[in-house]
Amino acid sequence: MKYYSVAIDGPSGAGKSTMARALASKLGYLYVDTGAIYRTLGLFALSCGVSPSDPEGVSALLPKAIITMNYGEDGLQHMYLGGQPEQGGEDVTEAIRTPEVSTAASKISAIPAVRAFLLEMQRDIARHNNVIMDGRDIGTAVLPQADVKIFLTASPQARAQRRYAELAAKGNADSFENVLRDITERDERDSNRSAAPLRQAEDAVLFDSTDYSPEECVERLLEIIQEKTV
Ligand code: DC
Repeated sequence: MKYYSVAIDGPSGAGKSTMARALASKLGYLYVDTGAIYRTLGLFALSCGVSPSDPEGVSALLPKAIITMNYGEDGLQHMYLGGQPEQGGEDVTEAIRTPEVSTAASKISAIPAVRAFLLEMQRDIARHNNVIMDGRDIGTAVLPQADVKIFLTASPQARAQRRYAELAAKGNADSFENVLRDITERDERDSNRSAAPLRQAEDAVLFDSTDYSPEECVERLLEIIQEKTV
């Protein structure tokens, strides 16, 4: 049976997860948030007292990192550390969304051993499902044969504004300037690392969401996907 895969890459705050979730629901595909997997490993390093900037320390942790995921009835991708819940794993779905974990995830994701460790987990999901997978290197490294590749971007100000509103809605009091600085630093790190840096695949469709409403983006992206998956 042929499974379709749609890769959505782009910088932080471009709307990848919102778009990917909406598109997956319209198409009946599985939405895979690969950033959540990096975040879970970042949280694990922090909880073990290992600096995310220490490649050797983080690499030594990998054999102990048991990262699992499942999809709740709410359709949400739940992330666990230490196994599935019935095996005593801890649900870290909420805990991985803090600014501290964002930075840790970005730092550990520059370590080649980390990327190699998580690669097969991501590919395996696409082997058995129609997927919309979002991240930084899906079209270039994880699923280079994806049926559709989209590079979703937006201006740094628009991306920071969205992230700021998201954090504020959760009661996080970080200032807009801090959010913009975090996003810019994360872009720098994600784009300039030597291991699978963030870049547009040659055969990806570039879509700049700055001037579109979320609904307009979904409509346009759906057209792009449907053109390539019939
Ligand atoms: O998409 P996100 O903000 O949740 O991702 C968190 C970090 O993980 C991001 O700064 C870079 C890294 N990441 C990555 O290197 N490759 C991916 N496919 C997904 C995320």
